[in-house]
Amino acid sequence: MVKSTWIKIALGAVFVLLNVTLFMQSKHFVLEVLLAQTATNKSLSTNVTQDTSIDHSSLDRMFDQSNSVVTNEKPSLRKPIVNPHDFKYLIQPNVTCANEEVTLVICVPIAYNNYEGRSVIRKTWGSYAYNTSNKARLVFFIGNLPPESGKSAAFTQRNITEESLQYGDILQEDYVDSYRNLSIKSVSILQWVNMFCSTTKFVLKADDDMYINIPFLVNVLHEYSSDKSRPKAYVIGSLQVNAHPNRDSNSKWYTPTSMFPGNTYPNYMSGTAYAMTGIAASLLYQTSLRVPIFWLEDIYITGLCAKTASVQLYDNGNFSYGKRAVSGCSFKSNISGHRYTHQEILQIHKDLCDPNLKC
Ligand SMILES: *[C@@H]1O[C@H](CO)[C@@H](O)[C@H](O)[C@H]1NC(C)=O
Ligand SMILES: *[C@@H]1O[C@H](CO)[C@@H](O)[C@H](O)[C@H]1NC(C)=O
Ligand SMILES: *[C@@H]1O[C@H](CO)[C@@H](O)[C@H](O)[C@H]1NC(C)=O
Ligand SMILES: *[C@@H]1O[C@H](CO)[C@@H](O)[C@H](O)[C@H]1NC(C)=O
Ligand SMILES: *[C@@H]1O[C@H](CO)[C@@H](O)[C@H](O)[C@H]1NC(C)=O
Ligand SMILES: *[C@@H]1O[C@H](CO)[C@@H](O)[C@H](O)[C@H]1NC(C)=O
Ligand SMILES: *[C@@H]1O[C@H](CO)[C@@H](O)[C@H](O)[C@H]1NC(C)=O
Ligand SMILES: *[C@@H]1O[C@H](CO)[C@@H](O)[C@H](O)[C@H]1NC(C)=O
Repeated sequence: MVKSTWIKIALGAVFVLLNVTLFMQSKHFVLEVLLAQTATNKSLSTNVTQDTSIDHSSLDRMFDQSNSVVTNEKPSLRKPIVNPHDFKYLIQPNVTCANEEVTLVICVPIAYNNYEGRSVIRKTWGSYAYNTSNKARLVFFIGNLPPESGKSAAFTQRNITEESLQYGDILQEDYVDSYRNLSIKSVSILQWVNMFCSTTKFVLKADDDMYINIPFLVNVLHEYSSDKSRPKAYVIGSLQVNAHPNRDSNSKWYTPTSMFPGNTYPNYMSGTAYAMTGIAASLLYQTSLRVPIFWLEDIYITGLCAKTASVQLYDNGNFSYGKRAVSGCSFKSNISGHRYTHQEILQIHKDLCDPNLKC
């Protein structure tokens, strides 16, 4: 009797000690990783206006909010770095979250030469970021010109630099801008958010052929986060379940077994648009450094990396990767729709902003 009680007490003490040690180690370890990240050899020689020194108070805040998450993720963050994402910055946005509370960072991956696409988004759903009371930011993510752009490359690059001087909302990194490199572009989004905007509450990644009802999305995100039973790190979007790799060598999505040996992808969010907490973005970034890159960005970030990091995925039926009718009414209580032309995006936005809109 007495002996077994002592054994129980001893076992209990060992258990508590072990947990405290693990917790301390993980916090320390993650802090080291984050510090190392900000010291990576990014070329910050361009005209950067933001303070690139690390913000310790925001890091502390992040740990306060996410200790449980970070502790649970320890195994995935202890893996070796296999995907360092150490591309140089060619153009930096002047957008920053330093010393300011930010609710949403709107991140748009877009082809380097899609000037009109950026212009349309600035005039429509992206303009949400121009109202300071919304505490939102808008950043476009592009890569470097492909080698074959040859003679006109210098001209094109000058044009992009000019656009950046005018709007200050472009991040250009030194990887080749191509469809096959979209996963690299998505990691560049997560890295930039992690380095310059890690205190943001929420992050949206949305393609340029989408319409997004941003105010509606922000309400939904606040609703999710006010439910304290939910984890701090989550992604919402249109959940894709039990998808299979395309093995047809003629398909645009052909994925040989050498790239993905399994028969079924992990569940993931349609890449057309997904939103997450700032904490999820930091965790997914740290995890992406440790998960071999896979060319389909949605499966890579919200499938493979989210699964490794145990970041929760929530399906929300108000996201759609299909095309909703081109009208303000089809977006009034919805978040996203896909495959719109520039004219259609302008039309939906005009409808939706009309105070007399009747549905
Ligand atoms: C960092 O960048 C500087 C300047 O571009 C370069 O001289 C140096 O070798 C780089 N260091 C590493 C570790 O890559
Ligand atoms: C940085 O600023 C200097 C002087 O204002 C300017 O000459 C240079 O072109 C700028 N560089 C970039 C990459 O914007
Ligand atoms: C900015 O947003 C606030 C709060 O949503 C709103 O009340 C205000 O009318 C907006 N201002 C403009 C210029 O749109
Ligand atoms: C240069 O940029 C402007 C917008 O910034 C765009 O309208 C124009 O098409 C671009 N020109 C070329 C040749 O790329
Ligand atoms: C960024 O640059 C643009 C264009 O030069 C300017 O309109 C904007 O006010 C700047 N934003 C910040 C935060 O400095
Ligand atoms: C992707 O980017 C890398 C780094 O710039 C480059 O080496 C590679 O050729 C690119 N791949 C494609 C398919 O564009
Ligand atoms: C979309 O949002 C509306 C308004 O909040 C809600 O009533 C509806 O249930 C949502 N639809 C889905 C499929 O989640
Ligand atoms: C949201 O989209 C769905 C599907 O496109 C549509 O059936 C529904 O009417 C939309 N909701 C509103 C309030 O427009």
